[in-house]
Amino acid sequence: MTSGDLGQVCRIENEVFPNPWPKSAFEGDISNDATYCPVVKDSSGNIIGYASLTVDINEAHLTNIAVSTEYRRQGIGSILMDDVISKAEREGCRAIFLEVRNSNLDARGFYTRYDFTELYRHEHYYRKPTEDALVLVRPIGERNSHG
Ligand SMILES: CC(C)(COP(=O)(O)OP(=O)(O)OC[C@H]1O[C@@H](n2cnc3c(N)ncnc32)[C@H](O)[C@@H]1OP(=O)(O)O)[C@@H](O)C(=O)NCCC(=O)NCCS
Repeated sequence: MTSGDLGQVCRIENEVFPNPWPKSAFEGDISNDATYCPVVKDSSGNIIGYASLTVDINEAHLTNIAVSTEYRRQGIGSILMDDVISKAEREGCRAIFLEVRNSNLDARGFYTRYDFTELYRHEHYYRKPTEDALVLVRPIGERNSHG
């Protein structure tokens, strides 16, 4: 992801999330050396999916992943997830953590497919609307790809 991508990224972000990240959050991520921000483009070069993975010494945190609504269930999220898992593995991380809204059954189905499991529930974590987060974890090095 580059600063030139942010217009398209923010359009998708606003389309898919009830409480979208502001542009400044993406600007912070792309200027942070510890954050990996892959994008997937269609054949015309338009962004159709993106992710943000913050890498620490032993663990990584997937803070964002989204696919434009019209491109869902076509393997785009999997391209991004395989990419961030590979990145975390290359960086020597032992696990990837993330938070997901309890009601976000699409994402929960996706994460289950990727062997994420629930660690604990963080009550009232989200705003607009207020909702619990499920904190999920996936160890690194057990399965790397879903072909
Ligand atoms: C979660 C998300 C990124 C998945 O992207 P995607 O491109 O549709 O995912 P894929 O096509 O690669 O799906 C891979 C597999 O994940 C599972 N999966 C994906 N979406 C699912 C859903 N809605 N319900 C159940 N399982 C699902 C399936 O096993 C799927 O394989 P299949 O299509 O062969 O059955 C997408 O739904 C999205 O952008 N959601 C809105 C943003 C969001 O909520 N992000 C997560 C915030 S925590």
